[in-house]
Amino acid sequence: MIVTIDGPAGSGKSSTAKEVANNLGWNYLDSGSLYRAVTWLFVHEYDYNIEMLIENLTTHNIKIEPLNNKVDTILDGNTCGSEIREQVITNNVSKVAENGVVRQFVNKAMYKAVQEANFVADGRDLGTAVFPDAFLKFFMIADVEIRAKRRYKEMTDNGLEADFEEIKKNLQERDYIDSNREIAPLTKASDAIEIDTTGLSFAEQVETITKHIQSRLN
Ligand code: DC
Repeated sequence: MIVTIDGPAGSGKSSTAKEVANNLGWNYLDSGSLYRAVTWLFVHEYDYNIEMLIENLTTHNIKIEPLNNKVDTILDGNTCGSEIREQVITNNVSKVAENGVVRQFVNKAMYKAVQEANFVADGRDLGTAVFPDAFLKFFMIADVEIRAKRRYKEMTDNGLEADFEEIKKNLQERDYIDSNREIAPLTKASDAIEIDTTGLSFAEQVETITKHIQSRLN
């Protein structure tokens, strides 16, 4: 069974999806981390050369592994950590995620993972393109100013360097690229429940979504 939460960067999807999954005893799937892992290859292994990345993509292995209540993203046998959250990755990820070969590669890893367990997954195109038959779909939105504040806090809490204005500019650029790309753009599925988190606390976001799921399960 899969529940999808799509929306723009910083709308609160990942922290909410993680907590909702925890409440339900399900696993959490962070589809953005897969795009970030591929972007890590683009930056560090292929020196920003998209053709080389695409040519060699299938020689790499990417998977999601549920382990002790935590789901890891594994790239070529190594668990991905904060290196995939660094600004250089964030600045390049939308460009890499535009590519159809990359999207197929990531989708394959997701399809494989969800065969084995129940998931709450967050992303951009999960309700529209990847899991059109999901059990329940949500679309989370929030004002860009509040999203930049949240992203800044998330990065500094994780010990990463952060610049508020750069984060805000990057969010606006990513919103544009993610929403206007040709393949599987960020858009609300017609059957998704929209949640505007601008004025909501984290606990309220989690409660709203958990309640929707529980009432559908009963
Ligand atoms: O959720 P995030 O910020 O970690 O995602 C990083 C990027 O990955 C995002 O800017 C666009 C891309 N992405 C995507 O294209 N489709 C998804 N389902 C998830 C993420």
